[in-house]
Amino acid sequence: MAPDRGFPARIAGGDFDPEAGSREPLDVPRGPQTPRAGMTLPGLVEEVEAALAAARGRIVKLTSSGQTVWVKRPRRGPGYTLYGLHFAAAEALGIRLFRPPKVSRGPSGLAAEARRLAHLQGKGWPVPRVLGIAPDWLALSDNGPSLGDVVAGLQVPERSRMLRAALQFLQTLHASQGWHGAAQLRNLTRLQDGFGAIDFEDDLEPAMSLESRQARDIYLFLISAARYADRDATLVPQLLEDALGRASTSVGAELNSAGAKLMRAERVLGWIAPYLGRDGPALSAIARAFRDR
Ligand SMILES: Nc1ncnc2c1ncn2[C@@H]1O[C@H](COP(=O)(O)OP(=O)(O)OP(=O)(O)O)[C@@H](O)[C@H]1O
Ligand SMILES: [Mg+2]
Repeated sequence: MAPDRGFPARIAGGDFDPEAGSREPLDVPRGPQTPRAGMTLPGLVEEVEAALAAARGRIVKLTSSGQTVWVKRPRRGPGYTLYGLHFAAAEALGIRLFRPPKVSRGPSGLAAEARRLAHLQGKGWPVPRVLGIAPDWLALSDNGPSLGDVVAGLQVPERSRMLRAALQFLQTLHASQGWHGAAQLRNLTRLQDGFGAIDFEDDLEPAMSLESRQARDIYLFLISAARYADRDATLVPQLLEDALGRASTSVGAELNSAGAKLMRAERVLGWIAPYLGRDGPALSAIARAFRDR
């Protein structure tokens, strides 16, 4: 099959449906994607397939013509246990926003991510470029180091500054009527002149309002940042003030409503939070920040 230089950059296999996997109507720009100089698509396809044959992980990083390329394989396995636990926890708290995303699997999940990335590029968001797509993989340009790794290596004051700036970045995306959908620190990146975003594979509930999507992003961000709360008592209260100060009235209402439920849960179940993995202490720190405002 001759390489197709339109979008998606290349689709191998005649039965691959790039529209599958997402019910969200997306206005995807169909213009050609220009690979970086020296990175010819046919060459990239061979390099990707060789790298995937040699590696085991779902995400494979390779260098092609001196450029870093990230390759994602389709998600396999149902993961229903984790999904069920996550769903049950959201129900127990009575916070719909905390429900897990629909689990995207197989080539349709990758196709949905490619379509979203093209859409967000069109809006000027700092997201990776789609370099190629096939039923078995999605190749993306490097979008900088993951913030999860970057902040882990910082001292407390610098980490606090970077987390506050990253939250501001997320809320700037919201100001353009958008949402990330998986705004944990590991899915944001550090760029030379600011921040970037990665990982747009999962669908949220189609009926979820924009306000709920944005409030959910902010909670995912806070929960992932709150793992540093034990080393920095002012971190979560400060991030919460920042978030509420910038949020629109309707997003603020969503944040406060979930915050009230967290405070109630913390009063009754706070003693058990330290035993609930990473999320228990994080949610507890957020509940305390609401309480002490
Ligand atoms: N385009 C990219 N630029 C920089 N880093 C990337 C890129 N794509 C993937 N990564 C790295 O690989 C990791 C996993 O990629 P990604 O988040 O897309 O996959 P995932 O399996 O959906 O992750 P999650 O665990 O969040 O579900 C990221 O956290 C990041 O460290
Ligand atoms: Mg991710």
